[in-house]
Amino acid sequence: MLCAIFQLLFLFGIHAPVKAVALKCEYLSNPIGIDAPNPRLTWQLSDDKQGAKQTAYQITVGTDSLAVSNGHGTDWQTDKVNSSTNLIAYAGKVLQPYTKYFWSISLWDKDGKKIAAPTIASFETGLMGVKNWKGYWISDDHDINTKPASYFRKTFETGKKIVSARAYIAAAGLYELYINGKKVGDHRLDPMYTRFDRRNLYVSYDVTADLQTGKNAIGVILGNGWYNFQSIGVWDFERAPWRNRPAFCLDLRVTYNDGSVETITSDKSWKTSFGPIIYNSIYTGEQYDARLEQPGWDIANFDDTKWNGIANRQAPSLNIVSQAMQPIRNVEKIICKSMSKINDTTYIFDMGRNIAGVSQITLNGDSGTIVRLTHAERLYKNGYPDQSNVDYFLSIPTRKSDPFSTDIYKLSGKGQKTFMPRFNYKGFQYVEVTSNKPISLTKESLVAYFMHSDVEPTGSINSSSELINKLWAASNASYLSNLFGYPTDCPQREKNGWTGDAHIASETGLYNFDGITIYEKWMADHRDEQQPNGVLPSIIPTDGWGYEWGNGPDWTSTIAIIPWNVYLFYGDPKLLSDCYGNIQRYVDHINELYPTGLTTWGLGDWAPVKSKTPVELTSSAYYYVDVNILAKAAKILGKADDYAKYSALATKIKAAINAKYLNPKTGIYAEGHQTEQSVPLCWGIVPDSLKAKAAAHLADSVAANNFHLDVGILGAKAILNALSENGQAQTAYRLASQDTYPSWGWWIVNGATTLYENWNINAPRDLSLNHIMFGEIDAWLYKALGGIKPDETQPGFKNILLSPNFVTGLDHFEATHTGPYGKIISSWKRVGKGINYAVTVPANSTASVVFPTNDGKKVYANGKELPIQNNYQLQAGSYEFEIK
Ligand code: BGC
Repeated sequence: MLCAIFQLLFLFGIHAPVKAVALKCEYLSNPIGIDAPNPRLTWQLSDDKQGAKQTAYQITVGTDSLAVSNGHGTDWQTDKVNSSTNLIAYAGKVLQPYTKYFWSISLWDKDGKKIAAPTIASFETGLMGVKNWKGYWISDDHDINTKPASYFRKTFETGKKIVSARAYIAAAGLYELYINGKKVGDHRLDPMYTRFDRRNLYVSYDVTADLQTGKNAIGVILGNGWYNFQSIGVWDFERAPWRNRPAFCLDLRVTYNDGSVETITSDKSWKTSFGPIIYNSIYTGEQYDARLEQPGWDIANFDDTKWNGIANRQAPSLNIVSQAMQPIRNVEKIICKSMSKINDTTYIFDMGRNIAGVSQITLNGDSGTIVRLTHAERLYKNGYPDQSNVDYFLSIPTRKSDPFSTDIYKLSGKGQKTFMPRFNYKGFQYVEVTSNKPISLTKESLVAYFMHSDVEPTGSINSSSELINKLWAASNASYLSNLFGYPTDCPQREKNGWTGDAHIASETGLYNFDGITIYEKWMADHRDEQQPNGVLPSIIPTDGWGYEWGNGPDWTSTIAIIPWNVYLFYGDPKLLSDCYGNIQRYVDHINELYPTGLTTWGLGDWAPVKSKTPVELTSSAYYYVDVNILAKAAKILGKADDYAKYSALATKIKAAINAKYLNPKTGIYAEGHQTEQSVPLCWGIVPDSLKAKAAAHLADSVAANNFHLDVGILGAKAILNALSENGQAQTAYRLASQDTYPSWGWWIVNGATTLYENWNINAPRDLSLNHIMFGEIDAWLYKALGGIKPDETQPGFKNILLSPNFVTGLDHFEATHTGPYGKIISSWKRVGKGINYAVTVPANSTASVVFPTNDGKKVYANGKELPIQNNYQLQAGSYEFEIK
């Protein structure tokens, strides 16, 4: 029936309305708090006609929404520009702080016809510079070892009618903001972690609806976060150069109906007190004594005569910028799968899957009852939580007062209460609840929240293989578990911004999630951390740890690889341009230290199975990758001399690697182990004439290993691509779908819902159950089976490279990715001996399709045979092919 309706709609030429959609400013929908002087505006053309494209656009920007929707912009009005671009940086009058701008976009379609109504959106500027802050940074001024979190409050009164109100709050540490008894917004763990002594983030809220005429109260709770790191671990964060008692700065800007503006600020008039949060560590957990709650602390009529005064403090840095990015949220609520009561003081909750986030318990009990919530990724055979895979970096002497992944809650005895920590998160599947007096819990007493940077999903994979579907879901769960305003290695043991893990996972991230804002922020963290000589630390942000260990090009190539991948996926060169000087300093530094083109600086193929690959081979390969990206960036940014210089350096490095490691007769690198073959193949180091030979050797060695992996993390990034890009897709698929040790599938058949840190699920160490560093398999599903790849000559999927592989073992496979132009669909299924392939190319983009037809099969479209060629060029629209 549905089908028939669609046919009719097409017969009569009825299509969905044509318009501009997905209008964003700085990659956010109608954001407030934009500090960029030339914010980027992006949009998509929604037009499902075959060949749909945008032939021209016109942008209108102004502060009057009605005028803007009528095409009059007082701040910027472009002419009709004949161009198909959907990304433009604002270039009108100088933007003013605290101002809401409306912008509209008019488009002309493929026939040069103006699309009826323009689409309108808005963005609002923030403080636009540190000079506009009116408040002081304030703190309770206790010593850094003081355990309880401080609460702050202030009341103010107004007789006038409030038209609009904005709160701007910057914090060193973590904050929660309250107005008149209600938490403002749904963010968690704000602000995002930065190197506090170099850059601080502030968050903007529209609080118009939270204020009232008359008396108002503002409350702030400060947590330690990474600023006043409490736990003692091996990375010295407790000795961070920025460490201090948390502080904040707040401007509450209220506009009244008489046009006047009043700013209520953080200053000496605020009061402070301790409250029920008696301990909080971002690393380990939170401790809460409900008996110390002060009900009404955040409302106007509260007696605060016992509260203390505050102290003004120096700003942690003079670089305070807007947090213009997706916040962390409690994104998904997870209901307990099963609960086992061991006795009336011990319960074990199984959440059914491994996540990063928090648990929330609702319970009743006598005053003073102490309840401990211990979080773990696995259980011992006796059913109790086993943290031994992840707890070993925490100092042993402090564990009694600061237990690992554990919240401690003391009951007030005042009826049913709900507790969820505010300033901590953990990695876990199981929660053990113990108490010093009997308590009665049910399966419903505890829920969990999966927390992460709330980036919008942009990809999907669906196939006839349960294992592949589960691997995709597990990789995404690990990617998100490790996205907290910066990419981390794991949510339990470290929470560190390990560089290597993040660049390896960046394609998986970009295929699946709209994460540009997180990467742009993290690259600013890189720029903050780079030494003048170009060296970067292995973890970012850092307190100083990591400038001497683990920071060779195999890890810190983030500085080049992430801006490059963002360019490929978004078609936006800004990040590449912002990081250009940093990539150059980095590359120049390696060149100075290693003038031969070969470098031994790095960790090498971390967490391998058995074979070891020379560090010099993998590190030099990543050095080559960086120089190559630098050369390409130079070309894109119009730096001809640099382009020539770094292209020559890239050629030299490649030649040095091949001279030392490649046997030109056999195509074998070094001993020919999996990583040794894969890394040069994947990163474009193998001479064209030897690619087939090198890939055939790789395929043979995989077969000789009975289609099992023998790689660490650098090999795992490379191997599937090295095979499928060089005519060995079937071998790649056999590896990817393997389910005995060592393989990705081995984790899944053993119950994994996330990816692990070690191929060996019984490894005595280095076995976090939530690492993303082996996560390239997820991106590979898009690239090799769906065949969806960005085209670097027309990035941002302006032109899509489509080269699916119809591998034996799958009856059906579908990949979708929503890029800057809209949703790309690449879907195939086996019909008889042939393949039906359906593809959707979004409006205003094109695709180049290559079918694997070397087996003599022919390609048909609408029943008609197409000429044999290795590249079919498609306009926007939906198509169906048969390959048989
Ligand atoms: C981290 C990794 C990281 C590695 C570097 C580990 O402790 O968890 O994921 O890349 O160290 O050696």
